[in-house]
Amino acid sequence: MSTLFFITALLLSSTATVISCPPSDLAALLSFKAALHEPYLGIFNSWTGPDCCHNWYGVSCDPTTKRVADINLRGESEDPVFEKAHRTGFMTGSISHSICRLNRLSSLTIADWKGISGNIPPCITQLPFLRILDLIGNQISGEIPADIGRLSRLTVLNFADNNLTGTIPRSITNLSSLMHLDIRNNRIAGTIPTNFGKLRMLSRALLSRNRLTGSIPYSVSYIYRLSDLDLSFNEISGTIPESLGKMAVLATLNLDANRISGQIPPTLMNSSISILNLSRNAVEGTIPDVFGPRSYFTALDLSYNRLRGPIPKSITAATYIGHLDLSNNHLCGPIPMGSPFDHLEASSFVYNDCLCGKPLRACIK
Ligand SMILES: *[C@@H]1O[C@H](CO)[C@@H](O)[C@H](O)[C@H]1NC(C)=O
Ligand SMILES: *[C@@H]1O[C@H](CO)[C@@H](O)[C@H](O)[C@H]1NC(C)=O
Ligand SMILES: *[C@@H]1O[C@H](CO)[C@@H](O)[C@H](O)[C@H]1NC(C)=O
Ligand SMILES: *[C@@H]1O[C@H](CO)[C@@H](O)[C@H](O)[C@H]1NC(C)=O
Repeated sequence: MSTLFFITALLLSSTATVISCPPSDLAALLSFKAALHEPYLGIFNSWTGPDCCHNWYGVSCDPTTKRVADINLRGESEDPVFEKAHRTGFMTGSISHSICRLNRLSSLTIADWKGISGNIPPCITQLPFLRILDLIGNQISGEIPADIGRLSRLTVLNFADNNLTGTIPRSITNLSSLMHLDIRNNRIAGTIPTNFGKLRMLSRALLSRNRLTGSIPYSVSYIYRLSDLDLSFNEISGTIPESLGKMAVLATLNLDANRISGQIPPTLMNSSISILNLSRNAVEGTIPDVFGPRSYFTALDLSYNRLRGPIPKSITAATYIGHLDLSNNHLCGPIPMGSPFDHLEASSFVYNDCLCGKPLRACIK
């Protein structure tokens, strides 16, 4: 009985004295808040009082250490706050470097606020526990911190839809846990690191709509788990590595709107790839005649290139071709007949040198 009393007394006294949010984390959050302005939803109205771990919008703490572990602020979500306001989020200001004092932070999401500008605080690379860094959909400018590779636990890096400049830091290939890399729609220039293939855990590499130059590193094909590679709308030149067609799970390969030259590696036609877009490049030669049962394309777009010769006969052996675009090339000869072609319209074949037969005009015998 006395033991029980003692334990109860101990518990009561400890809950009375434990302050859930350490003052240093509280101060860091308040100066983070002070650098931002959110005029429509009032999400920061909940950021008051001494316990930042309790009912602060978008903040959560580690239940054991009581340190701030996650900041999750999304300007587009199904949270009732947005439904009530009948609008998506908008915020101006910048991301304060005081965020770096939250040194137990595991995820930082400040996404789709449209108006947040300023730089990525360089000190962010000193957050050793960071796993998720998602700043999509703002107006963040400046460069990706050169030592981003220090974030050894990072699994998600999303800087898409911002105004970032500079180059892809070489240290990025040290992010050995990275699974999802998205830097689409910025103004990042320079080349893709030659040893990009060191990112062995990567499953999505989305680099489209930047100003990337140079060629596709051969090492990309070493990334066993890579399922989605999007390099479209850059200034990438050189040829397509033949090894891309031998990757185990690569399903989407978007290389459209670049300056890629050379011939189409035959391996691409007979691979795990189901979406292949090579449109708007300078690809030449013939379409490889190696289609077979492994060829399964929901979309195959080879339009706006310099392809010559016939449409290969083997293409009718493909298991499936949903959307096909061979337009705006120099192809010539009869369009093959067979099930993958029955549903296709003339637009798939127009603006070539001399293609003929259904769905274009009949060939002259
Ligand atoms: C970001 O880019 C957009 C579109 O290019 C531009 O309108 C905007 O002014 C830029 N913002 C900043 C902060 O540089
Ligand atoms: C990558 O990590 C290794 C080992 O920690 C280090 O020696 C190297 O300098 C890093 N590379 C870059 C480019 O930061
Ligand atoms: C391929 O890329 C071009 C842009 O370069 C785009 O217009 C086209 O819709 C894409 N094709 C498919 C099937 O998505
Ligand atoms: C297609 O790929 C498979 C497996 O990689 C291979 O065995 C086969 O020979 C290839 N077919 C052609 C026509 O290249």
